[in-house]
Amino acid sequence: MKENSRRGFMGKAFGAVAGVGAIGSLVAMKKTWDPLPSVKAAGFTTLDMSIYQEGVMVTEKWRGKPIFVLKQTAEMLANAKKNPKDIERLVEVDGSHYMVCIGLCTHLGCIPAFREAKNDFKCACHGGEFTASGNVQKVPPPRGFDIPPFKIDGGKLVLGEVGPEWQSMKDNGVTL
Ligand code: FES
Repeated sequence: MKENSRRGFMGKAFGAVAGVGAIGSLVAMKKTWDPLPSVKAAGFTTLDMSIYQEGVMVTEKWRGKPIFVLKQTAEMLANAKKNPKDIERLVEVDGSHYMVCIGLCTHLGCIPAFREAKNDFKCACHGGEFTASGNVQKVPPPRGFDIPPFKIDGGKLVLGEVGPEWQSMKDNGVTL
């Protein structure tokens, strides 16, 4: 009888420890599922534009897609100003100009590489090329990089939200 109640107690104690362990594992798992701090609910990603450096290409992520962010250097901007199809693609935040595009080739969806020495992008799949503002400079890509919906919020860019600047790009056929 005494032995039985001892077993019962041990069983409950083990059960409780296992339960606490299971809850701990669930909490740890949830932490790995949670989005990064930069990612908000409902598919919005907020980018602090002040962190980017001129001429340094950074790949961010929005809704599982790579987002190319390239703060334009004075040389890039001067080049973009020579072609309306380039300059109209740039996003101006706090007086600086940025290329912010979905980093997928508009031909068949490969991820092009930034060529720092040439200030452009090359797609290794079929040789397509894009300028530093994301405009197509060599086929087969049928158009420049697509630009994700964005809203300018002070010094930040909210991807996934439609602001007047992006709407005007869309209305003018700059992006799909
Ligand atoms: S997928 Fe980029 S050129 Fe074909």
